[in-house]
Amino acid sequence: MPAVSFQSVSKTFSTPRGPFQALNNVSFDIEEGEFFGLLGPNGAGKTTLISILAGLARASAGRVLVQGADVQGDYAEARRRLGIVPQELVFDPFFNVREALKIQSGYFGVKNNDAWIDELLESLGLADKAKSNMRQLSGGMKRRVLVAQALVHRPPIIVLDEPTAGVDVELRQTLWQFIAKLNKQGHTVLLTTHYLDEAEALCGRIAMLKQGQVVALERTTDLLSQASGNVLRFKVDGELPVALRAQARVTGRIAQLPVHDAADIERCLALVRESGLVAEDIEVRKADLEDVFISVMSKASGSRPAAPATEVSA
Ligand SMILES: Nc1ncnc2c1ncn2[C@@H]1O[C@H](COP(=O)(O)OP(=O)(O)O)[C@@H](O)[C@H]1O
Ligand SMILES: [Mg+2]
Repeated sequence: MPAVSFQSVSKTFSTPRGPFQALNNVSFDIEEGEFFGLLGPNGAGKTTLISILAGLARASAGRVLVQGADVQGDYAEARRRLGIVPQELVFDPFFNVREALKIQSGYFGVKNNDAWIDELLESLGLADKAKSNMRQLSGGMKRRVLVAQALVHRPPIIVLDEPTAGVDVELRQTLWQFIAKLNKQGHTVLLTTHYLDEAEALCGRIAMLKQGQVVALERTTDLLSQASGNVLRFKVDGELPVALRAQARVTGRIAQLPVHDAADIERCLALVRESGLVAEDIEVRKADLEDVFISVMSKASGSRPAAPATEVSA
């Protein structure tokens, strides 16, 4: 039995401008013990899908099963098996960290949970904040508490919706060490992130969403093998020549171009030189998940007109 099964899930919101389809017939399974990545640009429908999984929103069509329990028909059972770290920082300002965790334990009917709460506080670097009021914590610290709250009832399935958006490097490392350990112990993990290097390092399998549709669903190694080529990366002051613009990924002064062989590299650099620009800090690297992501997103046609280009890495 899969840990999570999305079966032909669609979601249409009614908006002042008419119906808006956020999810269009999404189907895939996450097996027990997987570390699964759900990727997609802003607005692709990731949080909507997770809200439906969490029972916070209703699918317009289709159904979602958590270890066989229907998230609507068998809500309490499905919810108990999930630990969900939401994208938004939601917290109760009246309690300190330990109280918040105890209340969450109580919500799931878990008693005598102090040893596990201590372990969570320790593992997430919150031990010295146990008595701090939630109000007083920095954004990064609140994020840690949300993770601890999601895990307080030891759910077999852990769902993280952009847990590292805007958080410091230290928390990212602490968090991934801890989540990877739980995954090794058998917990299933579903992760959405904008940091494709994190997804590449952590996820065994990845689904890519675009405009509410699944446009890729593969093992991470198979996705990466599609990116067989290399990437030429350099800094340049000024706009690239027209011949290079279409395939280039430009972030500020940094230009990156897919290249296959040495002749390709020479051709690109010659075009840059002939346009009167100077390429600096030139390097060639292997294509990575971000290159695959960009290529999948530019090819796949969604059900709606293309959204403006979205920056995928921060
Ligand atoms: N309650 C809502 N009402 C109307 N539109 C919504 C609502 N929630 C999300 N959307 C729209 O659905 C799309 C998908 O949103 P979301 O699931 O948050 O995307 P992601 O998490 O991938 O960035 C977006 O275009 C968003 O504006
Ligand atoms: Mg989201």
